[in-house]
Amino acid sequence: MSSDEEMVVTPWKVSGKIDYEKLIRQFGTQPLTKEILEKLKKHAGSLHYLIRRGFFFCHRDFDLILNLYEQGKKFVLYTGRGPSGPVHLGHLLPWIFTKYLQDAFDVKLYFQMTDDEKFLLHHDFTVERSVGYTYDNALDVIAIGFEKEKTRIISDIKNIRALYNIAVKVAKHVNFSVVRAVFGFEESTNIGLIFFPAIQAAPCFLESVLTGENVPALIPAAIDQDPYWRVTRDVAPKLGFYKPAQIHSKFLAGLGKGGKMSASQPETCIFTTDSLEAAEKKVFNAFTGGQPTAQEQRRFGGNPEVCTVYQYMLYLFEEDDGKVRELWENCRSGRIICGECKSILAERVKKFLLEHQKRREKAKDVVEEYFLKD
Ligand code: TYM
Repeated sequence: MSSDEEMVVTPWKVSGKIDYEKLIRQFGTQPLTKEILEKLKKHAGSLHYLIRRGFFFCHRDFDLILNLYEQGKKFVLYTGRGPSGPVHLGHLLPWIFTKYLQDAFDVKLYFQMTDDEKFLLHHDFTVERSVGYTYDNALDVIAIGFEKEKTRIISDIKNIRALYNIAVKVAKHVNFSVVRAVFGFEESTNIGLIFFPAIQAAPCFLESVLTGENVPALIPAAIDQDPYWRVTRDVAPKLGFYKPAQIHSKFLAGLGKGGKMSASQPETCIFTTDSLEAAEKKVFNAFTGGQPTAQEQRRFGGNPEVCTVYQYMLYLFEEDDGKVRELWENCRSGRIICGECKSILAERVKKFLLEHQKRREKAKDVVEEYFLKD
């Protein structure tokens, strides 16, 4: 994929060089202000590194959620996954941040598995395959450490009873012309996909429906999911609910040159189920901001700004701000060369995968208990 391509950000396709400032304007979201971060820090105790380092970068109504919280009104978290294959490291980032919010605010999480969406989207998918990935991917969700008592995973196909009652009410307020404009649906789009935005909207209101109280929802996710929320936010007041709030992240890049981490390019994508050897190989083949030779690197220094290895340290594998700064400076000045950096990252990736895979194994014993009982 070339980074010179025109920027495209939809729930199903992300390509080109992503200009996040432009996305804020295009999608009509708000940047995260200093005041909001201070308020978050006041309640959460500390600012998560993913927000300190600007990975989460814009929002809608996050300020409102914090204000309501200050007035004693709790919210619920809502996020999800389209289970079309194994989970990659990019998917984990919004979940890691969601876990921080769950712990900081002691709130419930609804986690939607859109096995219907993936079945409808992919010609070669069976329902069974989609649901199979729901259970497989749920192991990754549990491995992140979400508390069982406060987390409900929803499979659209298995739990449709809980969702349908809400989805039809949403659907009645959304015209075809709206979803066609927002999602780019065409004459040939199957009618399941045309209805689907109502299904992804439903968990925003699930807590309100189950408790009979109006409870706002906050959605941490990457910005590709935004079209769903634009439609849902228009409908919410018509149904008497709070508009769902969002906190949006950027995309973790793939290990190649340009483009987000995407399962469609497995050689540049680290899956949580990769063997340690396979993951290490991917890291050693990664695109860096280095010079063609070690000698030139020592002389002229590298460019961490475009380096995928640096990005992985920044967003996933180095929580210490001081050490990240040091790595940046060492790269710029040529004190470290790409091979050394890749070795450090490879060790961290392998350690992470080893631990994550152990937690995934353990999750098999409890996975059923996390699912919504409807
Ligand atoms: P899906 O499976 O495409 O993505 C799951 C989550 O991962 C985010 N994401 C990324 N984040 C950082 N870097 C990347 N390279 C990257 N690629 C994907 C997505 O934004 C998402 O948060 N339709 C949805 C499932 C869904 C959902 C939700 C997601 C249902 N309800 C509520 C978020 C919030 C989907 O297919 O996600």
